Amino acid sequence: MTGSGAHHHQISSMFKPLPANHLSKPVHKSSKINFEKIICTVDNTTGQTSFTTLPGSLTGYIQDAPFAKGMMKNAYQLILAGVDGEVEYVTKQFFRLSNDIDQLSDELAGAGGDQIAQHNAQIKAECSRLCQAKWFLSAFYDHCSASNVVVNKYIMIADAFLLQEKASMEPSAASGISSYSLEDEGIMWLVETRHPKNVKHFSGTLSHPSTGMDLKSSTIYAFTHFSYGHSNWNLVFADVQGSPAVVNGHDGLILFDLMTHTSNRNSGISDFGIRGIKSFATDHKCGIVCRKLGLDKDLPLGARVDSDMELDSDDDLGMARENHGTAADGGGNKSIDGSGSATGGSDDTE
Ligand SMILES: Nc1ncnc2c1ncn2[C@@H]1O[C@H](COP(=O)(O)OP(=O)(O)O)[C@@H](O)[C@H]1O
Ligand SMILES: [Mg+2]
Ligand SMILES: [Zn+2]
Repeated sequence: MTGSGAHHHQISSMFKPLPANHLSKPVHKSSKINFEKIICTVDNTTGQTSFTTLPGSLTGYIQDAPFAKGMMKNAYQLILAGVDGEVEYVTKQFFRLSNDIDQLSDELAGAGGDQIAQHNAQIKAECSRLCQAKWFLSAFYDHCSASNVVVNKYIMIADAFLLQEKASMEPSAASGISSYSLEDEGIMWLVETRHPKNVKHFSGTLSHPSTGMDLKSSTIYAFTHFSYGHSNWNLVFADVQGSPAVVNGHDGLILFDLMTHTSNRNSGISDFGIRGIKSFATDHKCGIVCRKLGLDKDLPLGARVDSDMELDSDDDLGMARENHGTAADGGGNKSIDGSGSATGGSDDTE
C-alpha cells in the first residue's frame, strides 16, 4: 500500500439516503420471462462485431412499466435469476424506430411480425455500437499510454448484452406485444447494468461542441477524434452521453446510448452517414488532450471528409456520391464555424 501520493482510493460513494416517502412507494408489477442470451463480440483486429446465442435459457422479471424514457427508448428494471441469486439490470427497448419526429407517437404497442424484426435489428445495432465503442476506447487508452499523455482513465462503455424472449411463450407486458404469432421472432432487449440516473451529454446527433475544459470532457472529445481517425475516417461517435460513476475507485463516467455516423450508413437509427461525419468534422475543435496527443496534426479533420469521401477506396463508392457539397479544401482545421447544427437531431427527417 502506498501511504500517500498519486493513487488514493476514495472511500466516499454515491450513497443517497432514502427519501422521506420511500415506505409508501408502490411495489412494481413485473412479468416472468424466459430468455435466450445473445452476446456481441468484436474482432480484435478489425473492430467488426458479431452475435452469438448462448445455449440454454435464463429466467428474468421485467417490470411492466418503464422507470425512464428517452427520445427513442424506454428503460425498465430487469431482475435476472442467477447462481448467486437475483441481480438487478436495466433493460431497454425502442418505442419508435425512426428519427422522424412525425412517428413520435408510433409506439410499438400492437406491433407484430415486421416491426418486431425491425426492432430487433435496431436493438442489435445498438448493442453492436456499444461493443465497437469498447474496442475504440481501449485502442484510445493504449494510444494515450504509448504517447505518455495524461487523460481521464476512468471512462467506460456500458457493458451490454441482449436477451430475446421466446416466441413460444407469452410476451412480457413491457414489450407492448399482445401475443406472438407463429412466424414472429421473440422481441430482443438490450441489457445493461444499472447506473446513476443523471446523464451528462457531450454531443448531440449532429452537433459536436467541444467546449468543456475539464480533463474528463477533453478526454471524451479526444476519444471521438481518435476514433474517427482510427476508423480510417469511416465512423464518428454522436450523442455521446454518460452517467457519473465510480470507476476503479475514482470519479469516472459510464458512456451509453451511443450513436454513430458511418460511411456506409448502416449502424442503425440516427446514422446520418456522410452528413453526420461532416457535422463532426465541422464542429470538433481540438482541446488540450487532442493537442497533447497530436491529433490536431496527425488526424486532420477538414481535408479528408470533403475530398476523400467521394473517392473512398476499398468499399462501396455508391453511397459517398450522395454528397457533393464540397467546401473547404486543404487548409486543415480552419473549419467553417456557426454550425447551425441541430441538437438531438430529431427534427432532421429524411
Ligand atoms: N443502464 C442504465 N441505468 C440507469 N438508467 C438508464 C440506463 N440506460 C438508460 N437509462 C435511463 O433511460 C433513459 C433512456 O435511455 P437511453 O438509452 O438514453 O435511450 P434514448 O435512446 O431514448 O435516449 C436514459 O436517459 C436514462 O435516464
Ligand atoms: Mg439517451
Ligand atoms: Zn481533436
